[in-house]
Amino acid sequence: MSRRLLEVRDLHVSFGRSRTVGVDEVSLSLAAGERLGVIGESGSGKSVTALAVMGLLPENARPRGSVRWKGIELLGMPERRLARLRGTQLSMVFQEPLTALDPTMKAGRQVAEVLRLHRMSRGDTQERVVSMLGRVGLSEPERIADSYPHQLSGGQRQRVLMAMALVNRPELVICDEPTTALDVTVQKRVLDTLDHQLAESGAACLFISHDLAVVSRMAHRLVVMRHGRVVEAGSTQQVLTDPQHPYTRGLIATADLAAVVPGERLPVLEDFA
Ligand SMILES: Nc1ncnc2c1ncn2[C@@H]1O[C@H](COP(=O)(O)OP(=O)(O)O)[C@@H](O)[C@H]1O
Ligand SMILES: [Mg+2]
Repeated sequence: MSRRLLEVRDLHVSFGRSRTVGVDEVSLSLAAGERLGVIGESGSGKSVTALAVMGLLPENARPRGSVRWKGIELLGMPERRLARLRGTQLSMVFQEPLTALDPTMKAGRQVAEVLRLHRMSRGDTQERVVSMLGRVGLSEPERIADSYPHQLSGGQRQRVLMAMALVNRPELVICDEPTTALDVTVQKRVLDTLDHQLAESGAACLFISHDLAVVSRMAHRLVVMRHGRVVEAGSTQQVLTDPQHPYTRGLIATADLAAVVPGERLPVLEDFA
C-alpha cells in the first residue's frame, strides 16, 4: 500500500459555545502527487476542512478526530511546528486574492517573505521570486514584483498568490476556490497554469470549489460534501459517470461541464442521464 501523504480521519469541527457544526466525521486521504477535488455548495464545510489541515482554524473552533501528515498528527501540534510546515511542505491558495495579499507590500516582497521561511540568501531570493512570477504566467515579472496589489488585476493577484503557494516547492497545495473571484476566461487561463505548475512540481493538491466543472477538470478523485459531511467519494470519472448520491446527480445535472473540462476528459453526455 502506498504511504498516504495526508490522512484525515473522522474530522469533526464545531464552533463556539453553541457548538455549531462545521464538519462532521469527514475522512479523506491523499497520496503524493495526487489531486483530490472537494465539491459542495456554500456552507458545506469545504473551507473548514482545509483550515483544519493547515492548522488555521479560528480560535473558537474545536476540532476532533485526526489529521495526519506523513503519519504525524497535526491536530494539537504546537503552532511553532505547524508554522514551519506551512509555507514549506504545506501551502494554501486562498479564496480572496484581495484580502489574502498585504495591500501595503509590493508583490515581489510578499513572495520573498515566503521564501525566507526557507532561509534563502538575499541574492537568490530576488532571482527566484521573479522566475516564479514568470512561471505562473505573469508577463513582465519584474514589473509585477515591483507593484502593489491594488495596481494588479484580479487575475494577476491570483497568480501572485499561486506563486507564493508554489515557490517553496511544497508537497501539498490546498486551493480553496482559487478562481471563484475571476471571470470565466481568466479563470480558465489561471487553471491551465495551475494544472501545469502542479504537474511540473509533482505536488499533491486538495482542490476546493463549489463548481463541479472546475473541480472535475483539476482532480483525479472527488469528494462530495454536503452539510459538513462527505456524501460521495470516488475517481472523478466514476463520480461523473456513475454518481451514487442524489445530491451528486443534481450537481452533475446543473453543471456546465463542457465549459472547463478539456475535450478528451469530458465524459459522454449519455452517462449523465
Ligand atoms: N468562524 C466560524 N464560526 C462559526 N461557524 C463557522 C465558522 N466558520 C464556519 N462555520 C460553520 O461551518 C460551516 C461550513 O463552513 P465552510 O467550511 O466555510 O463552508 P464552505 O463549504 O462554503 O467553505 C458554515 O456553514 C458555518 O455553519
Ligand atoms: Mg469556503
